[in-house]
Amino acid sequence: MSDPSRPIRTAAVIPAAGRGVRLGPGAPKALRALGGTPMLVHAVRAMAASRAVSVVVVVAPPDGAAEVRHLLNEHPLTDRTDLVVVPGGETRQESVRLGLAALPDAVDVVLVHDAARPLVPVDTVDSVIAAVRGGAPAVVPALPLADTVKQVEPQPQGTPEPVVGTPERALLRAVQTPQGFDRETLLKAHDTVVEGEGATDDAGLVERLGTPVVVVPGHEEAFKVTRPLDLVLAEAVLARRRATDGYV
Ligand code: CTP
Ligand code: MG
Repeated sequence: MSDPSRPIRTAAVIPAAGRGVRLGPGAPKALRALGGTPMLVHAVRAMAASRAVSVVVVVAPPDGAAEVRHLLNEHPLTDRTDLVVVPGGETRQESVRLGLAALPDAVDVVLVHDAARPLVPVDTVDSVIAAVRGGAPAVVPALPLADTVKQVEPQPQGTPEPVVGTPERALLRAVQTPQGFDRETLLKAHDTVVEGEGATDDAGLVERLGTPVVVVPGHEEAFKVTRPLDLVLAEAVLARRRATDGYV
């Protein structure tokens, strides 16, 4: 638990070092434009929009830290938010670990937010932070699924895959970011859990420690830009925001 004599500070780590293979050829995904502004800039602003967030750590492509720093200098944040840029790694888990290593000492609550979720609303960010500050060591925003999910026996492409089972949809949630953590819990998870053990998010690492993780409501607009069609949706959401609430 945090020392009450010290103000609680919240940081956001933004892994942005991925190539974006599924989006197709081009610049690293986080640097591609959305409404004329790089996706990463939207994601950084989305974190800085929360009054609680005082530090944003951006994890840049391994050879692109200087370029990212330059880009973010051109899109300055308000004075209340500090910005740190570090080079990332080969995997998302490694990139997050490198981001965590750059956290200032006074940080107690850590958000980890995909650069590929540029449009998460500030209310979602704030509700994750509130749940961590309320005592939950690990918090993930998530939504119920629209599709039914089948478990299959994977086969080479082109071969039909036998269905093994159908988990009960009402019990499933699709998880998003920002995921929020008590700093010590997240550092311990990243120090303890070995890469390649199948965790695809940070909460998954914490689960392996046996530490409880809770879900709070996510938001449709926190979707991840993964494939080309997601860019079409993101542009549409952005255009609607610009028309209705002056979003830049
Ligand atoms: N990420 C990262 N370092 C990596 C791989 C991924 O920081 N070595 C980040 C991505 O930049 C992204 C987030 O993790 O913001 C979620 O990953 P994903 O959506 O899978 O992005 P990419 O790995 O870039 O995309 P793809 O898997 O299609 O290549
Ligand atoms: Mg990936």
